[in-house]
Amino acid sequence: MATRDGRPPQGIGKMADTDHEADKNLTANHETAYFGYRRVAAAEKWQLVHQHFDTVARKYDLMNSLLSFGLHHLWKWTAVKMMALHPGDRVLDVCGGTADLAILAAGRVGRAGRVVVYDINRAMMAAGRPKVAHSTLAPRISYIQGDAERLSCPDACFDAAMVGFGIRNLTHPQVGFREMHRVLKPGGKLMCLEFSKPVTGWFGRLYDFYSFQIMPAIGKLMVGSWQAYTYLPESIRMFSQPEELCAVLTGLGFSQVGYRRLTNGIAVVYSGVKT
Ligand SMILES: C[S@@+](CC[C@H](N)C(=O)[O-])C[C@H]1O[C@@H](n2cnc3c(N)ncnc32)[C@H](O)[C@@H]1O
Repeated sequence: MATRDGRPPQGIGKMADTDHEADKNLTANHETAYFGYRRVAAAEKWQLVHQHFDTVARKYDLMNSLLSFGLHHLWKWTAVKMMALHPGDRVLDVCGGTADLAILAAGRVGRAGRVVVYDINRAMMAAGRPKVAHSTLAPRISYIQGDAERLSCPDACFDAAMVGFGIRNLTHPQVGFREMHRVLKPGGKLMCLEFSKPVTGWFGRLYDFYSFQIMPAIGKLMVGSWQAYTYLPESIRMFSQPEELCAVLTGLGFSQVGYRRLTNGIAVVYSGVKT
């Protein structure tokens, strides 16, 4: 495993000039970024994100299943199926964490295929290691510890790149997408699975109550931290709407950009192709 050098990510995203919604999420200012609802120094955000995942790592999978009533498995399965991977494909799982998406992808790329889990947080990858080790797919999966904003991979070396519930955590999400574009081969596929806001009003209000009152309470009970589980709903509310994100992907040079809402828009699968 390569280790990060301890420096904050070097952002090359656009300078933010207003407090407009898009400024808050997709384009962090070079000096500031949002950690949930808090505006923090950009150099501080990755540390806060790192601490957050250090806190939740050991119980991450359990909490995911508990808080989403198991739905995250269905979302991940659907997202990987939509990628239409081929045998022999090389796949990058950015912000791969406990490797759920990597395991699903490894099942689709055959014996000649390979999946790389790429994550900045060792504790998160370690939490998922037993799952991978106990799977027959283990030989197809490898790990790199590093920053998604500075992928330590050569240009044009992957057939597909995916990021699940990770892009929102980056200090400069656009830089993460740009890096994914760089390491994809021409014709390579991008998949991004991310939370969003429900489309139906009453469902949205119910979801708000659940995510701001119930989820942190369960977090306090299970992980001993209320705050760790307010970051989740706050960062979701601060993140871009699907149309904005698609415009960003198109601007970065992806074609065939589109999205599909899952479970009333709680989660969204984005796709694109490197032209
Ligand atoms: C919500 S988890 C998602 C894990 C997994 N993809 C899933 O769907 O369950 C977000 C992951 O992004 C990782 N992450 C956050 N910032 C990162 C960065 N700058 N570079 C690489 N990984 C990062 C975290 O360590 C964490 O494992």
